[in-house]
Amino acid sequence: MECPDIARRSVPGQFFMLRGPGRNDPLLGRPFALYDTVLDDNGEPIGIDIVYLVVGKMTRVMRDWRRGDLIEVWGPLGNGFPVPETGRLIFVAGGIGQTPFLATGREALGKRQYGTPQRKIAAPPELTMCYGARSAEYLAGLDDFSTAGIPVQVATDDGSAGIKGFVTSLLEAELQRDAPAPWVFSCGPEPMLIAVQKLLAKYETPGWLSLETPMACGFGACFSCVTKVRDEQTEWDYKRVCVEGPIFPAADLILH
Ligand code: FES
Repeated sequence: MECPDIARRSVPGQFFMLRGPGRNDPLLGRPFALYDTVLDDNGEPIGIDIVYLVVGKMTRVMRDWRRGDLIEVWGPLGNGFPVPETGRLIFVAGGIGQTPFLATGREALGKRQYGTPQRKIAAPPELTMCYGARSAEYLAGLDDFSTAGIPVQVATDDGSAGIKGFVTSLLEAELQRDAPAPWVFSCGPEPMLIAVQKLLAKYETPGWLSLETPMACGFGACFSCVTKVRDEQTEWDYKRVCVEGPIFPAADLILH
């Protein structure tokens, strides 16, 4: 999507609400994560790239969008992943939760800068991505990750690619490695995030989880996206995933 102003301000982990203009079906926009910004020949951001799996009404409509169509893009929305200040960084992605990690990886490796003002990495960390999917045919973007220099380890439910089993087995092996203490960034379905959260607590590792909560407005007005977080005074509170998230420190979230 050509939208230079939005592209210049976007940072990895943020998202956009997309809507076909003049359409009432679906009535509400849908959230999509930044896959990466698109640069012109001078390296200036001129657009954004998203990826999606065709699973419902909105994505079936999107499948028919063509070059030159006008669409509504609201964003960038949400907080994005923090700039990594660590010697070792691990991504854990499940299902279509791999989407934010191309830009996040390029930034971590010092290959691209994002945001206005541009965010800067002090020193690129050692990076690995653990990526789990149902089967080989659901793995997306492996070539993009490889081209970007992001090493990917794969787990599938049926063993058709990588190891047979859960992506959290790959994470646990990484956490047990005799290597500098890592930071972990994770995005995927909630059961996977709960498993990641437990491992982070077990190995006392800092992590940030990106939630895939359904959203109606995307900018803080409807409260359809709240999640429970720990609160020092009241034990817990609700926070809006679209504004205060979608990324939260793993230790703050109360997931079920
Ligand atoms: Fe409306 Fe978050 S989606 S407040």
